[in-house]
Amino acid sequence: MKNKKKVLKNKKILLGVAGGVAAYKSVDLVRRLKDEGASVNVIMTDASKNFITPLSLEIAAGNKVYSNLFDDPMSHINLPKETDIMLIAPATANIIGKFANGIADDLLSTCFLSFKGRVVIAPSMNWRMYDNPIFQENLRRLTAYGIIQVGPDKGTLACGEEGIGRMADVSEIIETIKSAFSKKDFFKKKVIVTAGPTREYLDPVRFLSNRSSGKMGYALARACIRRGAEVILVSGPSNIEKPHGLKAFHTVETTREMRDEVFKSLPATDVVIMAAAPADFSPEKEEKAKIEKSGRLSVNFKSAPDILSELGKLKNKPFLVGFAAETGRRLDRAKEKLIRKNADIVVFNDVTAPCSGFDVDTNKITIIRKNKELSLPVMTKDNAAEAILDAVSGAIGKQGGRQPIRKLRANRRRR
Ligand SMILES: Cc1cc2nc3c(=O)[nH]c(=O)nc-3n(C[C@H](O)[C@H](O)[C@H](O)COP(=O)(O)O)c2cc1C
Repeated sequence: MKNKKKVLKNKKILLGVAGGVAAYKSVDLVRRLKDEGASVNVIMTDASKNFITPLSLEIAAGNKVYSNLFDDPMSHINLPKETDIMLIAPATANIIGKFANGIADDLLSTCFLSFKGRVVIAPSMNWRMYDNPIFQENLRRLTAYGIIQVGPDKGTLACGEEGIGRMADVSEIIETIKSAFSKKDFFKKKVIVTAGPTREYLDPVRFLSNRSSGKMGYALARACIRRGAEVILVSGPSNIEKPHGLKAFHTVETTREMRDEVFKSLPATDVVIMAAAPADFSPEKEEKAKIEKSGRLSVNFKSAPDILSELGKLKNKPFLVGFAAETGRRLDRAKEKLIRKNADIVVFNDVTAPCSGFDVDTNKITIIRKNKELSLPVMTKDNAAEAILDAVSGAIGKQGGRQPIRKLRANRRRR
């Protein structure tokens, strides 16, 4: 049940591995694509075999690795015909040059020419090659034809030099592939997502916090990016990798800081998704020095800012999604929260239920709107995020006075 709706489930990916130093990363890439439910066919260029053996990729893919154009005379037509998306990682300066100029002198470049679907390239090379204007012209040509480019990143290159040219992280490449398959119903929508816990300090070393990991909020931020949104992520302390493609990323500690960052980013925002678990209380007094150890300690707490309520009171409030993490199936409290805080959607989850709530990769949610609720089975947080965005997209479409997200996008295209 958990993997049922994975974006890449049953997708057929044709991975081209060209002869660059990053070729060894393609083994991990194949494994990760398969974990996402995709099936992977691999084409290796002759040069790539200097960097990695076909056997390694064959084992990772669980499929024969293709390389020679003439081994199977029809492979350059049949392989692309059976493919949903082509990915070239690493993409060398040489293969990019061939693609950009219609050269088809090996299996990979010939498959590229005969393939009718979307292509993603992950360039990787020394910065001197990357800077070369002829290479840049080739790259521009490909992207102008709709080829999707991911990376390269700046950093330490294989040769030890610093500069641009490192192949994008495997996780970024996978997000790019997922994005290519995602609907774009949040195209250019400005979305603020909050995630993780906050900390309220008693003294310089001790704080009150909660068990939120940030997983649900980060999954929502990634899903919004895939669906075309411009995403600002305001995150409390979390160990999760920062999503690729964010418009802005703000890290905060206290609920007050989270509130201030949300309000700073608020102008022209279409949707705010409050997936964070900001502390509800903060100590009345934060001691400047560490509190000495003693028999007992009494602390008085005051209410921390209620960000969702504050947003709900705004005259031109954005579309508001709140979360109700409850201990027990207290749907009544979540429904009451929707009304009291003037939210458009409240996502209920019982944090004590199995496979749900804090620090796990799955969640069991109920999406609550006025006069409507949708209870979903246990699913990955990525899938739960997609379901929440479906509900947002659907609700905005039906809201009087606002244009549906999809319609806005269509209008933009027509212009
Ligand atoms: C040690 C070594 C490392 C190389 N690394 C890269 C690289 O990272 N990126 C690149 O574009 N070319 C790199 N090259 C050059 C390519 O291997 C060469 O252009 C080759 O013809 C590429 O063939 P292909 O595009 O068919 O795989 C490297 C060459 C050597 C000898």
